[in-house]
Amino acid sequence: MSPTPNPRVLYAKVPPPGPLIAGEHLVYESTPTIDLDAPLNGGFLTKTLFLSPEPFMRERMRDPSILTYSTPMVVGQPIVGFGLVQVLRSEKEGVTAGEYMYGFTPWEHYTVQPYVDARFDFKSSNYPPYTFDMDTLVLQPVPNPHGAFPWTSFASVLGTPGLTAFVGLESIARDMKAGQTIYVSSGASGVGSMVIQLCKLKGLRVIASAGSDSKVEYIRSLGADVAFNYKTTPALTALAEHGPLDFHWDNVCGEQLEDAIQNMAFNGVIIACGAISEYNLRPEDCYGVKNLSLIFKRRLRIQGFFISDGLPALLPRFLNEIPPLLAQGKIKSQEQLFLGLDKGIEAFLSMYDGSSKAKPVVVVDASYA
Ligand SMILES: NC(=O)c1ccc[n+]([C@@H]2O[C@H](COP(=O)([O-])OP(=O)(O)OC[C@H]3O[C@@H](n4cnc5c(N)ncnc54)[C@H](OP(=O)(O)O)[C@@H]3O)[C@@H](O)[C@H]2O)c1
Repeated sequence: MSPTPNPRVLYAKVPPPGPLIAGEHLVYESTPTIDLDAPLNGGFLTKTLFLSPEPFMRERMRDPSILTYSTPMVVGQPIVGFGLVQVLRSEKEGVTAGEYMYGFTPWEHYTVQPYVDARFDFKSSNYPPYTFDMDTLVLQPVPNPHGAFPWTSFASVLGTPGLTAFVGLESIARDMKAGQTIYVSSGASGVGSMVIQLCKLKGLRVIASAGSDSKVEYIRSLGADVAFNYKTTPALTALAEHGPLDFHWDNVCGEQLEDAIQNMAFNGVIIACGAISEYNLRPEDCYGVKNLSLIFKRRLRIQGFFISDGLPALLPRFLNEIPPLLAQGKIKSQEQLFLGLDKGIEAFLSMYDGSSKAKPVVVVDASYA
């Protein structure tokens, strides 16, 4: 067969701390091609349907000598992240042509799986025990929703963001009770919007923040009892008025975490999920929390977690409980669709530059929008 165009988003250069530059660190390439009849060597060929830019991907774009919780991406290869694909051909037992899969995949139209060149060569003995080999987040089969919910739910409620919310709440905050109060930062994010809805289903009083008035309206529509724009109302002010907090779900870190610590109730719990305000900063430029003594004075518990920690135990429950809630309209999600892989870099940067309107999804095959 003649070569088929296989455009991709290339990780072209390791960025220094700070904003990524389109065309320098991330480059859209329209010219690569692939032979769709090429041997699969026991693997399978996939077509990318959509891709999900997620904040953690920025930290994987670093000098590989910098050790952190995740393995880095590979320069000179497409960036890798969560996405939905369809199997076109398979030589792998258990993987069937036509089936849909969700998981880690390179940002390109077609891929021979398991992808090899974009995989970081991880030897665990050379890394601290908290380093997670991200390339192990392999593609898993997912059902065709047959119209019960949109395909793009696999990028939000039914994908990593939804799973993260479910794992964090069910592992760290299992003891939360109706009537208690939680503050969710980055409440309109994929993770935050799911945390709000799951907490409302548990009968909690939810305070949430976001960075624009339209996002504040959105988190109200999800059921948040108090919603504020953290860019115009400091979290410290809003929480002093509406606290104290029994729980804080922290997606942001930095100043918003500081403000929450100051407003935690006796014995409160902070679920540390992410640090979107800091992924672009050098360690020395990160916000210095000033009131850590409150941790012992108020007997606070702060617990960090990573989605993979609780996934094996909680995935069956998640798959049992969440799709029906979604199909019944009891859980909602909002995605901002970027049509075409050539819009991928714009979608990626929107997470950090304040321009995002909702969970970004890069639609590669328009029939799955
Ligand atoms: N622990 C885990 O296993 C795990 C797994 C997945 C995700 N996470 C974390 O969960 C968080 C949300 O991820 P997501 O995929 O749901 O994100 P998302 O839907 O892509 O949303 C990210 C949002 O973060 C907000 N933001 C950006 N810069 C900010 C800043 N400086 N201060 C405050 N907010 C800022 C923006 O919303 P506004 O317009 O409202 O500012 C942006 O839309 C991230 O920190 C991510 O790393 C953790």
